[in-house]
Amino acid sequence: MKFFIDTANLAEIKEAYDLGVLDGVTTNPSLMAKEGISGKDRILGHYKAICDIVDDCVSAEVIATDLKGMIAEGEELADIDDKIVVKIPMIEDGVKAIKYFSQKGIRTNCTLVFSAGQALLAAKAGASYVSPFIGRLDDVSTDGIQLIEQIVHIYNNYGYATEVLAASIRHPMHIIQCAEIGADVATCPLSAIKALLKHPLTDSGLEKFLSDYKKVNG
Ligand code: E4P
Repeated sequence: MKFFIDTANLAEIKEAYDLGVLDGVTTNPSLMAKEGISGKDRILGHYKAICDIVDDCVSAEVIATDLKGMIAEGEELADIDDKIVVKIPMIEDGVKAIKYFSQKGIRTNCTLVFSAGQALLAAKAGASYVSPFIGRLDDVSTDGIQLIEQIVHIYNNYGYATEVLAASIRHPMHIIQCAEIGADVATCPLSAIKALLKHPLTDSGLEKFLSDYKKVNG
């Protein structure tokens, strides 16, 4: 399973990368705004700074919602670095834009996916990644994990190359459940990745090993 970090914060990206388990980054306009990144030049520069930290797969989202605009913006984003994956919303012109980029060999991440039907369309259009938002579904009393399971099942039926990227992850159990059902990628906040590290028996076990060592070695 690949781990992406879901942030535009450079320090957090560096921290996750240094842990040695990071395969990529996802951003969105809200995450960029949270870092105070505004204006075209600063936005493009920030994506470049992220690409310089990680090995591959930096999702950069278009703002346009019409086909022409998404193509122009997506091409500009893809020109920043080969690591860029153009993130496109699941809307009618978005599906067309995904098809366009897939024919040009530019990777895409279809975002704001909340149903199996949307995921099927994204795969047929040739998206590299599909991003079902599990936390936001859970927030409205709908089982986000069940949607991931359904999409994995459908993609396996037909051998689609599109990778299932579980997004809107809120806690470590989301990551575990996604891994159990075969999601290809989980994009997570740093807190959820670090929470995987923790177990009280690890802490108490280590404390005992070290105190036993000290008893005989001083
Ligand atoms: C990532 O690709 C998504 O934009 C992100 O996971 C959404 O997460 P949120 O629901 O916590 O905003």
